[in-house]
Amino acid sequence: MSTLRIGFLGAGKMATALARGFIGAGLVTPAGLSSSDPVPGAREAFARSTGARSTPSNAEVVDAADILFVSVKPAQVAALMAEISPKITPAHLVVSIAAGVPLAKLEAAVPGGTRVIRVMPNTPALVGASASAYATGRSATREDGLLAQRLLGSVGLAIEVPEKLLDAVTGLSGSGPAYAFLMIEAMADGGVAAGLPRYTAQRLAAQTLLGAAKMVLETGEHPGALKDAVCSPGGTTIEAVHELEKAGLRAALITAVRAAADKARKMA
Ligand SMILES: NC(=O)c1ccc[n+]([C@@H]2O[C@H](COP(=O)([O-])OP(=O)(O)OC[C@H]3O[C@@H](n4cnc5c(N)ncnc54)[C@H](OP(=O)(O)O)[C@@H]3O)[C@@H](O)[C@H]2O)c1
Repeated sequence: MSTLRIGFLGAGKMATALARGFIGAGLVTPAGLSSSDPVPGAREAFARSTGARSTPSNAEVVDAADILFVSVKPAQVAALMAEISPKITPAHLVVSIAAGVPLAKLEAAVPGGTRVIRVMPNTPALVGASASAYATGRSATREDGLLAQRLLGSVGLAIEVPEKLLDAVTGLSGSGPAYAFLMIEAMADGGVAAGLPRYTAQRLAAQTLLGAAKMVLETGEHPGALKDAVCSPGGTTIEAVHELEKAGLRAALITAVRAAADKARKMA
């Protein structure tokens, strides 16, 4: 059984999703995992959902864990780091999931030589299907990078990138589940308009996005080639593709990802 000791500082939605994923993947036991949060409701939800303990004391979590996930909102990171920094030892690996908080800022807030990793995950971690990217700090070792890969890989896809690309990652996969939810809802609306019951339409729409995504990932084929393969001459699909092109779907998605990435850059 795993001997990893993982602590989440901030027991909110993302911490809960990751913790559930790590436990579900067998990387850590509930006994080896803990979290802290000032909000009783957040602690209760974390404990209920993971079977791991949650306490109001950040210090307790720092003492009990070797891998510390900084999982508070970006604006709360500075205060949290100032509080825990005196308790951080060389045995700790600090992993921040706070959007837009640079490695340099994180490293400046902990003792010199502390190993730090910055991650941008997304909420499908809750169902073992997240898309995460991470960048390693100055003192992080190759083993630390491999550990991040193993942890994040247990809840989905994990890709190492240079830190300067993490804002783009935020715009694409960090915020991306919302774009996909909009598409599923709108496709289901279309199905309802065409006569399908709502629940049937919603499930068909969601499974269609899931299946298309799996085809891209598993075949490695260009999505354009996969699109061409389902557009038969004079058929129904090319009619719909024409409507989507007229409505500017591609341009809207490109602009959306760029807008979210720009916003992440400005928030840093
Ligand atoms: N949700 C996403 O889709 C997503 C995706 C990628 C990355 N992230 C990143 O993940 C981080 C957490 O997001 P979230 O959605 O999980 O937020 P959240 O649900 O608001 O969770 C953060 C929790 O930390 C608590 N907290 C605040 N200050 C603290 C402190 N000093 N010590 C311990 N706990 C403290 C908060 O309490 P209060 O409510 O009292 O502040 C809150 O319960 C953010 O930095 C975000 O950028 C989120």
